[in-house]
Amino acid sequence: MTQEEFFKKIIAHSKEYGFVFQSSEIYDGLSAVYDYAQNGVELKNNIKQYWWKSMVYMHENIVGIDSAIFMHPTTWKASGHIDAFNDPMIDNKDSKKRYRADVLMEEFLTKIEDKIEKEVEKAAKRFGETFNREMFISTNPRVVEYKTKHDSIKERFVKALTNNDLTDLKQLIVDCEIVCPISGTRNWTEVRQFNLMFSTQMGSLSEEASTIYLRPETAQGIFVNYLNVQKTGRMKIPFGIAQIGKAFRNEIVARQFLFRMKEFEQMEMQFFVRPGEELKWFEYWKEQRLNWHLSLGIPREKYKFHVHDKLAHYANAAVDIEFEFPFGFKEIEGIHSRTDFDLSSHQKFSGKKIQYFDPELNESYVPYVVETSIGVDRTFFSILGYAYNEEKLEDGTERVVLKIPPMLAPVKLAILPLINKDGLDELGHKVFSDLKYDFNCQYDEKDSIGKRYRRQDAIGTPFCITIDHDTLNDNTVTIRYRDTMKQERIDISRINEIISDKLSFKTFLK
Ligand code: GAP
Repeated sequence: MTQEEFFKKIIAHSKEYGFVFQSSEIYDGLSAVYDYAQNGVELKNNIKQYWWKSMVYMHENIVGIDSAIFMHPTTWKASGHIDAFNDPMIDNKDSKKRYRADVLMEEFLTKIEDKIEKEVEKAAKRFGETFNREMFISTNPRVVEYKTKHDSIKERFVKALTNNDLTDLKQLIVDCEIVCPISGTRNWTEVRQFNLMFSTQMGSLSEEASTIYLRPETAQGIFVNYLNVQKTGRMKIPFGIAQIGKAFRNEIVARQFLFRMKEFEQMEMQFFVRPGEELKWFEYWKEQRLNWHLSLGIPREKYKFHVHDKLAHYANAAVDIEFEFPFGFKEIEGIHSRTDFDLSSHQKFSGKKIQYFDPELNESYVPYVVETSIGVDRTFFSILGYAYNEEKLEDGTERVVLKIPPMLAPVKLAILPLINKDGLDELGHKVFSDLKYDFNCQYDEKDSIGKRYRRQDAIGTPFCITIDHDTLNDNTVTIRYRDTMKQERIDISRINEIISDKLSFKTFLK
């Protein structure tokens, strides 16, 4: 199966099994906006809960808040979003499609990197154990040619971005002979900057209405509350403030499913530290956050660190954790050392002193900040994609199973009476009633037991309980495990204990 086919399968499965729907689908949908369906919302809530617990409950010095989406418009002046939250866009005059110029260039560079990697793989196979990767890359004429080309284009690209040189960015696209994937032509407009923030009016027109913005990141809600939280929580540096919430960006590039949306959710944490200690904490959070991803059971090779070539003007270190999505390694989380830029800027624009008195140093300063910022939707996509498995079974049949970590699974337990008579259905309802306080359960009595197992596999339910005629005599049921399909006979009274143990957050968080 190609990556493209796999991508289509995930989207189709998400729709068929009630995870994700296109927004306003009956009106032909709204581009890059999605709704979470009955199973999707459960998975999404569980991801948020897992992050919240691992950040807020697991650290003595991190607290959470939930700030409003609407904020005073000066917030966005102070943060730099009004002046600089732009993407360089270019249109193809024939297809009338709009692209991010920097993404076109990045994709071009990735293609050259892929070519180098292919040559390396071929040679590694040819030479076997004696293969020396570094030596090959620095001496093989074809690879050297690719690499020289790659490095010189990359240098020019980074320079154009750093200097905001849109003319050279356009020229690079022309020089690299990049074509529009739709029209196949190189008939490009100039590159222009587009601000990504959505705006609206607050107040009626008769009053003095002012332009306000839908927040493009949740971080600013944390910065403007820094003083309130520090004082009311009597927080001592180093400490963190975490928040989960919606963010909005007028993204032009569509058709990337949950990867790039106009309305999405972020889980962000700002960690306030002493000036000069930020790079130590930056390293600490980099490792911590990678470990969080690995705790989901996804292997290390699915992740990469990507160190930023071009640092934002406020950052003195920045790294992305990238995940291997169906369209390649892309950012899932950003870790940024944001210096004192945000707090100092809010101090300047608000006229309020935003400082911390450090009793150990006996001095006041504007704290430095290390930020961890992860997208809920990209995490959802990564978990769903990794969990999706098509399996050939011993009896020759096939199944699609979502091997979602049990504590994140939308439905934890399905209760399945073998037939819906002879009192088995009543007993099933009773088991459901007993367990519903502790787990999200599903009662299902329609179709053959085999079909019901497949339905539960397809939504990732880790446990199925089957009630049969023996249950009426000896109070035992069959518990079936999703991943192994193994079945065990257990006493009804033990269901809760067995499942609770396997769903414990503690196991994963530790
Ligand atoms: N406060 C820092 C910040 O917002 P960012 O790299 O722009 O940094 C952080 O965004 C995370 O938010 C990304 O790593 C990604 O997971 C998620 N994200 C950003 N834009 C997104 C979009 N259009 N759709 C879905 N997720 C997005």
